Amino acid sequence: MSNVATADFTHHKYQGFTLAPSTHSRRLLELRFDEQTVKAFLDATAEWPVQALEYKSFLRFKVAQLLNDLCGQALQPLLIKTLVNRDTGGLLITPEGLNQVEQAEDMVKFTTAVAHLFGRSNFDAMSGQYYARFVVKNDDNSDSYLRQAHRVMELHNDGTFVEQDTDYVLMLKIDEQNMEGGNSLLLHLDDWEHLAEFYNDPMARRVMRWGAPPSKNTQKDVYHAVFDTDVSGQPIMSYIDQFVQPKDFDEGVWLASLSEAIETSNQRLSVPVAPGSFLLINNHFWLHGRDKFTAHDGLRRELMRQRGYFTHAKTLKQPNQG
Ligand SMILES: [Fe+2]
Repeated sequence: MSNVATADFTHHKYQGFTLAPSTHSRRLLELRFDEQTVKAFLDATAEWPVQALEYKSFLRFKVAQLLNDLCGQALQPLLIKTLVNRDTGGLLITPEGLNQVEQAEDMVKFTTAVAHLFGRSNFDAMSGQYYARFVVKNDDNSDSYLRQAHRVMELHNDGTFVEQDTDYVLMLKIDEQNMEGGNSLLLHLDDWEHLAEFYNDPMARRVMRWGAPPSKNTQKDVYHAVFDTDVSGQPIMSYIDQFVQPKDFDEGVWLASLSEAIETSNQRLSVPVAPGSFLLINNHFWLHGRDKFTAHDGLRRELMRQRGYFTHAKTLKQPNQG
């Protein structure tokens, strides 16, 4: 495991929130908004339901500004800095007092405010909105592992089969009932034991085809390599096992060994995310997935995701753009 600089900013009480390394890894920071700040934010934005944020894109930035104001303007620079900091680049965020499924709309609004301080969330083809809410139940039988409860969803990056830049992924837990298992799985590329071996393989640069099943509502295949190098010379990745379409034996065999080397990593983090909390990660050097659940007839889990591009930091070269 490489050295992680524990910079001063990672242990701190700010106006409206606290920041500290999580118990899972020093790379994953835990940011908690105090209840008073959350309530003040909801009061300040009460005139705009989520529908208003859907219809008028600029309101997403307006609610972001209001949240930043409540935090004495310290939140925005901190988020910008953390998300591109190679040593961390990941946050587990909890707005205190916002944890009941009845508050789902407020949760979406709060996550929207956080995301639009450093980025802009992309159109999500699955929902037709800038975010997607979806439910996992005991009996789902969809065409990918996203909503299938009894399967591990293997570690992957988002945005591998779309042409939009996907710098960040935000994953919110809205509701959870009769849940056992199902932790979020995370792997930082610099912790992965096999990074050098796979990154230095000529196959790492091989342009491959990526295509998704019908539920993703994407029409076109996209083409890019699994690995790329960012502007500071660090490896970044754009990979998902289900949607890469190897064209021949060599690609297929290499991808199978890559998949095994990722899934068997000892450095994988298993993180429980409580209702109302959300993970926010740099999508270029954090892989994410989800552990399987224990079957239960009353199982219900509701999630929301936002993916998008950084508006402030342009330190990363996008895969597929040379
Ligand atoms: Fe994902």
